[in-house]
Amino acid sequence: PSDMLIDSFGRLHTYLRISLTERCNLRCQYCMPSEGVELTPSSQLLSPNEIVSLANLFVTSGVNKIRLTGGEPTIRKDIEDICLRLSSLKGLKTLAMTTNGITLARKLPKLKDFGLNSINISLDTLVPAKFEFLTRRKGHEKVLESINAAVGLGYNPVKVNCVVMRGVNDDEICDFVELTRSRPINVRFIEFMPFDGNVWNVKKLVPYYEMLDKVVSKYQGLQRIQDHPSETAKNYRIDGHDGTVSFITSMTEHFCAGCNRLRLLADGNFKVCLFGPSEVSLRDPLRAGAEEDELREIISAAVHSLLLMIPWSRERKQRMLECLTLRKLRIGQ
Ligand code: GTP
Ligand code: 5AD
Ligand code: SF4
Repeated sequence: PSDMLIDSFGRLHTYLRISLTERCNLRCQYCMPSEGVELTPSSQLLSPNEIVSLANLFVTSGVNKIRLTGGEPTIRKDIEDICLRLSSLKGLKTLAMTTNGITLARKLPKLKDFGLNSINISLDTLVPAKFEFLTRRKGHEKVLESINAAVGLGYNPVKVNCVVMRGVNDDEICDFVELTRSRPINVRFIEFMPFDGNVWNVKKLVPYYEMLDKVVSKYQGLQRIQDHPSETAKNYRIDGHDGTVSFITSMTEHFCAGCNRLRLLADGNFKVCLFGPSEVSLRDPLRAGAEEDELREIISAAVHSLLLMIPWSRERKQRMLECLTLRKLRIGQ
């Protein structure tokens, strides 16, 4: 425990994202080429035992929230077993999942019984034909079913992730807001991040203030909700709505200063920052029989050397440094 998860900027990392697989049953244009991505041989992926061992190491060191991601986490056959075993880890408060909702509806009752207590479902359009274009697959109605199933099972809120792209779905913002009217749905509009290799470029980015304008022009009584410091979303309540609306401003307002996330990839590589390509394997030492303390050393070193690992442009590094330094000043360290 102690300071293993505190980085050199005083950020305490208590939130671990575990990617369970690189595979996905959709081919979203901004994420994957139509032929899919190159897959790591299955012998090199973490087994459920390895996932649980590593997760246990993190939880006993201070992590209290785990999010399962992918690819698409629900396509792993052992997903139920993994949920059951992770949710039993003492000290874990939240076991969450981010899913595209294609096969979720039928699996969710069991996953809920097995301890999955928070769910984020990705959906970028309410128009079936557009869904097929964006994801290169069918299944729009299945995603809607999964959202309904999650609401029906009492998940509150059910978060719906909508990546907003100019000229593609920016005309649907208010339709998405309607989802929040009489259900405990939190619609989260995400600024499109034009990563290298994306089919689209920065022209597709719709900045947060522009999205907010659209919402404000139709809905009265929009109220900002006080966010948790490590929250990546800016959250709003709307008068008379059961649900809420949020904006994830990855592009226009970075949230590095409050970031508390760690990442374990499907092949057992560990990384601290989404944008940092440097990774360190936890699988290899684990398979070589490393003791828990040795693994903690490796994790600790990665968390502490965070900035050194990021081969960003000078300007970008500078911006993150400023952002983090400001926070240091604020918290008086
Ligand atoms: P909550 O725990 O519900 O707040 O989930 P989350 O927003 O952390 O996770 P989710 O998987 O739902 O991701 C929503 C959006 O946030 C996606 O577009 C992610 O790419 C983005 N995101 C998640 N973590 C980070 C991060 O550390 N940095 C940046 N820039 N974006 C992130
Ligand atoms: N920009 C913004 N969000 C993205 N996601 C995937 N790729 C991008 C991108 N380039 C979103 C997915 C999902 C979440 C995990 O990340 O739509 O909701
Ligand atoms: Fe990528 Fe998620 Fe779309 Fe799958 S559902 S292709 S992982 S963005």
